[in-house]
Formats: sequence, structure tokens, C-alpha cells
Amino acid sequence: MTTAIVHPNIALVKYWGKRDKALNLPSTGSISLTVDRYETRTTVSFGSDHDVAYLSGRRLQGKEHERVFRHLDLVVPGRPPAEVVSANNFPSAAGLASSSSAFAALTMAAAASAGLSLPIERLSELARRGSGSACRSLWGGFVEWRRGVLADGSDSHGYPLAPQSAWDLRLVVAVLDPGQKKIGSREAMNRTTETSPMYPVWVNTADLDLDEAREAIAARDLSALGAVMERSALKMHATMMTALPAIRYWQPASVAAMEVVESLRAGGVSAFWTMDAGPNVKVLCEAHSADAVARALAEVAPAVEVLGVGGPPRLIP
Ligand code: DP6
Repeated sequence: MTTAIVHPNIALVKYWGKRDKALNLPSTGSISLTVDRYETRTTVSFGSDHDVAYLSGRRLQGKEHERVFRHLDLVVPGRPPAEVVSANNFPSAAGLASSSSAFAALTMAAAASAGLSLPIERLSELARRGSGSACRSLWGGFVEWRRGVLADGSDSHGYPLAPQSAWDLRLVVAVLDPGQKKIGSREAMNRTTETSPMYPVWVNTADLDLDEAREAIAARDLSALGAVMERSALKMHATMMTALPAIRYWQPASVAAMEVVESLRAGGVSAFWTMDAGPNVKVLCEAHSADAVARALAEVAPAVEVLGVGGPPRLIP
């Protein structure tokens, strides 16, 4: 029995769309920031009577149950029955990146519990098969998920860019709606890929965004990183809004939060927003301006949380 404790990551340059659904290979690379405070704790014990999984005390059934145990089959082929107990200390499935920590934690706990000692790149590749963004949650700090070129996907995993200690930034989360989202990111990205006339633009401009983000992280240049981060989020949401039927995660409060960020910037505060597959707005800023950013966002958001840069996963035997 092993417990893995893993922080989620938030994409600065987004992953949106797959080139291979079976292997879960992305159409483009992406770059993320690991956050602290939020975590998933997952314990895997082999040798139970039958497969059973709990998420925050709720027993998983149907498709959710299948997704967990199909993933265990992949990580530990020929495994015995298992019990999986998982909990997040933050809202699940509200665009707060819960699948990124969930599948990283499940992969790590399962491999360790089965006594497999796999290289971290291989663990990342396995986590990717569970949920793409999970492959970026194994190092902490800033991580790139390279698109890869190999047909078997063995070069499409996380690559660390800079550790937790490299850059003391804050991500201020305006929690606008902690409820479950209406349409999950997987379904949304597949519909976008298949129907948005803007999708080719997304794919064709991704490498430029990745180059700029990598350089900005290396130079610790928040204005440059913030600019490419907002552009990547805007482009991703533009492809969704032009899908058929259109997908729009933005709510009036999301736009109000964006306006708060614009006025902070006009007042000289270096702050930049991003949004994922949910209405919440996440604002990247320097550590010393986090309080001012949080106070300003509290004018439009019922709850605001200030997160720092998170470290790598931990395993507890
Ligand atoms: C908007 O990693 O949840 O958060 O691979 O289908 O499980 P699957 O998708 P998932 O999608 C994340 C989408 C995103 C952007 C990102 O994290 O890069």
C-alpha cells in the first residue's frame, strides 16, 4: 500500500486537442505551472477481494470506476484486485485541474504499491494516458509536455523547465463557481478539434507560443510570460466558442475578473489571467502583489485563493 501526494498544474500554454485519442497524444506541446496548497492524496492497496475506488468518500461507479481500473491495468499489467482511496483538498472538475493531480497520483501510487521502479519519464507517459495534463505534475515547478513525434508516444511526456525554487510567483484563483462543469474538457476538446474552423490556427501557432513561454521562464520575465499566457488562453477559448455547437465556459463574473486584471495592469501591477475548462479565472503575479490582486478580485468573486509554485510529488509507504 502506497500513498502519493501530488499537486495539480495549471497550463500557461494550453493543451487543447489530440492527435491520437487511443494513446492520448496531443496536437501541440504545452507548458504548465505546478501549484502549491492544492493536492490530491491517493492510496492504492493491492490484494482486496475486488476492485473498489472512492473519491472523497464517494464510491465510484460506472464510467468513473472503469476509467480508474483501466488505468491501473495499464500501469500494473496483470495486477490483482485493488482498493483506491483518493481525496482532493480543492473542488473536483471545476476547471481547477483536478485530473492533472488525480492521474499523476494514481499512476505513482499504483506503480510504487506494485513495487515497480519506473523512470520518471515513463511514469509521466503513463499518467498522460490517464489524462493528458497529468503528465506535467511529476516534477513541480514549470514543466513542458512535448508533443513528441514518435507513433508510440514514448517521447510525449513531461520535461522539467525550472524547479519550484526558480521563481517565486503567485497564482491567485478567483473561484467563481466551484460546481461541476456542464461539459468536461475531454468532450469539449474533441468537439473543438472536429468542428472549429479556427482549430488549424491553434495548431499552427502553438510552437511560437511555446518558444516565447520557454524563453520568458528562463529569463524570469513575467510581462513576457503573462502576454503569451493570456494569448494562449484567448486562442483556446476562441476555438471552443467557434465549435459546433459552441462551448463557452466564460460567465459574466469571468469577464468581470478579466477587467479587474486589466485595471490592475493599468495601475502598474504586473498581473495576467488564464482560464481553463470552467468559469474560474487564475491570475499570475509577483509574490509582493498577491495581496493587492486578491483584494481586487474579491470585489467580483465570492472566494479567492492565493497559491504559490508547488513542488514535486511525495510518496508515503
Ligand atoms: C483546459 O488533461 O483534462 O486544462 O487528456 O482528455 O484527460 P484529457 O484532458 P485534460 O485537459 C486539460 C485541458 C486544459 C488545458 C491544459 O491543462 O493544458
